[in-house]
Amino acid sequence: MTSVNNPLPRQEISGPATARHSSRLAGRLDAAADKSCSHRAAILAGLAGGVSHIEGMLESEDVLAALRAVEALGARVERTGPGQWTIEGGKWRDPDEPLDMGNSGTAARLLLGAASRFSLTAVFVGDASLSRRPMERVLAPLKAMGAMTGAAQGGRLPVRLTGGNLIAIDYTPPVASAQVKSAVMFAALGARGQTVVREPVPTRNHTENMLPLFGGNVSVEADPAGHVITVPGGQSLTACDLAIPGDPSSAAFAVAAGLIAPESELTVAGVMTNPARFGLYDVLKEMGAHLEFTPAGSRCGETLCDITVRTSQLKGVDVTALRAPSMIDEYPILAVLAAFAEGETRMRGLGELRAKESDRLSSTAALLDANGVKVEIEGDDLIVTGVGLAGVPGGGRVETRDDHRLAMAGLVLGLGAQAPVSVDETAMIATSYPGFFDDFSAIGANID
Ligand code: S3P
Repeated sequence: MTSVNNPLPRQEISGPATARHSSRLAGRLDAAADKSCSHRAAILAGLAGGVSHIEGMLESEDVLAALRAVEALGARVERTGPGQWTIEGGKWRDPDEPLDMGNSGTAARLLLGAASRFSLTAVFVGDASLSRRPMERVLAPLKAMGAMTGAAQGGRLPVRLTGGNLIAIDYTPPVASAQVKSAVMFAALGARGQTVVREPVPTRNHTENMLPLFGGNVSVEADPAGHVITVPGGQSLTACDLAIPGDPSSAAFAVAAGLIAPESELTVAGVMTNPARFGLYDVLKEMGAHLEFTPAGSRCGETLCDITVRTSQLKGVDVTALRAPSMIDEYPILAVLAAFAEGETRMRGLGELRAKESDRLSSTAALLDANGVKVEIEGDDLIVTGVGLAGVPGGGRVETRDDHRLAMAGLVLGLGAQAPVSVDETAMIATSYPGFFDDFSAIGANID
């Protein structure tokens, strides 16, 4: 048995890497566990009375940061086997030290919300990338509920939070963000009164879906004007056993590799099909991708499918801004695929990408530019001129800017490009997809 503070048995990979043209990628991978669901399972189990057993947890750096914080806040957290965690939750207390959120915006924002329902004081810190990202978007509603917060200039980490005695609010987040919604929902569980969150543009709904599994009370009204989520206050949660579904965002990298590497056919198994996460796959179908979705049961109320992909000549498309929340993490890899498509792809309404692990609008454009692909940013839109399956020059060095998805997207580009593509750092890939190199080696990708 391993406590969350002991290192997990894993080969550390760091430093630059180079991907070379590869063909005949083949095989069957199990999708990596979903990062969003793993975060929510760790936090909800940490809040719930009794012992929860979580199977298939994503053991990535981001999720480990959340698990360590939940333990430091008073839960008993134990790793009982690969991906298997036992968490005994309850009332949270002052942690002895600052809570290190590492690179994880989700851990930071969701835990700020969850911790604020208790009478405790905690300091949240993060790495260089996370310390540049906006926290005011969660601090504002938490302050409106009565939490006291002190943040570095511009509402950044480090943040000092004192919670307790919260009152319910009726809140419409100014940005479409599942993290903001979830932070308010977690805080609402301990507030006086009934909290309402109004989402004009619905975002991923894993908090809404998972809360009832822990005995939580939440109602969601969906109408054309958006979603209205209501959470009564004064709730206590009870432990449950659950299994984490596969991550459509991580699966996207192997699917993309299968689309662009010649003569490939591969399957990624157990991918969650939640429509709030499946936007990329809908767009890929519109682009002419050979994708087959085979139903593969369900996990913790989410349906799963196996995705089989074959090399495909894609065509450029216009991706509306309304799709953005259902594929917000997939734009770097979609932009890479757009380079291998025929014709122009315009991805609209990507302002939120500026607030990710890097400014993903500019870092994605720079990734393509460094590899001979014509790309423009017009306002909040990204426009890529595709040159067809065999036409992407490659040969560039990608600046990853502490961003895991940039690193993985750059390496996938190299698998289909004419000349090798290198990325300047790979250590942060472990924040979301620690098995990336093993999985890509298993399907025959030439990366070293
Ligand atoms: C996440 C929500 C998204 C996403 C992030 C995970 C979540 O962020 O980019 O990787 O688990 O709630 P926003 O909700 O801030 O867009």
